[in-house]
Amino acid sequence: MKISFAESALPAKGAVEVLIEEGKKMSPAAKDLDKQTNGTVKRAIAASKFEGKKGQSLEIMAPAGSDLDRILLAGVGKEFGELEQQNLGGNIYGKLKNSGSSEATVIVDAGTKDLTVAAANVALGARLASYRFDKYLTKQDKDDDGKPTLKSVIVGVADAATAKKAYGPMDKIADGVFFTRDLVSEPGNVIYPETLAEQCKELTKLGVKVEIFDEKKMAKLGMNALLGVGQGSERESRMVVMSWNGAGKSKQPVAFVGKGVTFDTGGISLKPGPGMEEMKWDMGGSGTVIGLMKALAGRKAKVNVIGLVGLVENMPDGKAQRPGDIVKSMSGQTIEILNTDAEGRLVLADVLWYCQDKYKPQFIVDLATLTGAIIIGLGHEYAGMFANDDKLAEQLFAAGTATEEKVWRMPLHDNYDKKIKSDAADMKNIGGRDAGSITAAQFLQRYVNKTPWAHLDIAGMAWSKEAMPTVPKGATGFGVRLLDRFVADNYEK
Ligand code: BES
Ligand code: MN
Ligand code: ZN
Repeated sequence: MKISFAESALPAKGAVEVLIEEGKKMSPAAKDLDKQTNGTVKRAIAASKFEGKKGQSLEIMAPAGSDLDRILLAGVGKEFGELEQQNLGGNIYGKLKNSGSSEATVIVDAGTKDLTVAAANVALGARLASYRFDKYLTKQDKDDDGKPTLKSVIVGVADAATAKKAYGPMDKIADGVFFTRDLVSEPGNVIYPETLAEQCKELTKLGVKVEIFDEKKMAKLGMNALLGVGQGSERESRMVVMSWNGAGKSKQPVAFVGKGVTFDTGGISLKPGPGMEEMKWDMGGSGTVIGLMKALAGRKAKVNVIGLVGLVENMPDGKAQRPGDIVKSMSGQTIEILNTDAEGRLVLADVLWYCQDKYKPQFIVDLATLTGAIIIGLGHEYAGMFANDDKLAEQLFAAGTATEEKVWRMPLHDNYDKKIKSDAADMKNIGGRDAGSITAAQFLQRYVNKTPWAHLDIAGMAWSKEAMPTVPKGATGFGVRLLDRFVADNYEK
């Protein structure tokens, strides 16, 4: 889908959306349009419940006196902010994608003082909504709700050049979100550790340094916790380290770590059959880290960032890890594996340890589809956040509120840590049914040393069964916008 900016003149054809403020207050463009169509806009408003409240909309088909396909009226309330601007853009796309119109113009001339930024946000929302994963649909042209008819969204605004400039970095963020959505949407027969590592290589085009660790290299480092998870799979495990150096050489890097289980059968502690296909997106944490690196490098963020992903496939097999096995992690700490389905923490243990040991970063944020329990606790509204550092937690919370990729802090405590004590090893990899997300986080905390660290359990967020204004159903790309904002607001000075 094409996004462009134009000086705010009403188009002669296609669909046009104009803004109405609360109290049926028409924007300048809405007034023009009303004149052009002999009062159709005013009459349509009078004949409906539409008042210009936030989120309200009204559609007028084939208005007389013009060659337009349709007019959309969008309520912006008294004033609309960043997220509402993005949602408005997303809603236009959602309404018109299969409407038959191929071109839509939205005139941004009301609802806020900063019209150029609003126009850029509308564009971002429309682009984010236009994501489709349709590469395996060979017959979609024949479906009614198949390939979208809408090919172009034009954002009309008084100062189009400035709006376009403001949109520049947003477009790069959307590139990152799309990359994450693509990777997370792919099935397990296409994306497995080696092919996911290959995808990371794509980032070298943007100036990211990409280092791939194979099993031999990881064995040398002593990453037996990670390797144990992958040992039942025909697919070899990988770790990928991506670095973007956008600040001075001497500047301490920030680090992001992602769980990349390209398929999680549960291993010998096999998962039940129904719904198991969902575990193709158990690499969602790494997908977000990879997309984030793309966004940051794409917009040339002034920060040094390391992105690390641990990539494994968790399969049951004659060579697979058994319940009761004891492994020695890279940190030297030993783990008794009581459930081979609690594999994400085993992968992260070695990657987190390597990350803090090798890079001494300012902080580490890890992302993982780690526990079903976090979905029981928080549903699909907030990711669970665990942190050993209050400042980090506050910064993440604020970035989450600003981007609507929300995180909610959960507790850590020594008494939870006791639940993962083992008689046979330094720890066990499960802590019982109670507080499952917390004991998982306690496990991870044992591998970050004293580094400021936050863990985001995104099991409820990486995939959505429902469409939202800027997030089509399926892979959400959750975390890219959140962490881009978190970095921009706090670490790019
Ligand atoms: N990948 C799953 C967690 C998950 C569940 C993600 C549902 C997304 C949706 C993880 O590896 C897992 O299996 N966790 C177990 C842990 C348990 C064995 C302690 C779980 O949550 O049941
Ligand atoms: Mn599992
Ligand atoms: Zn898993």
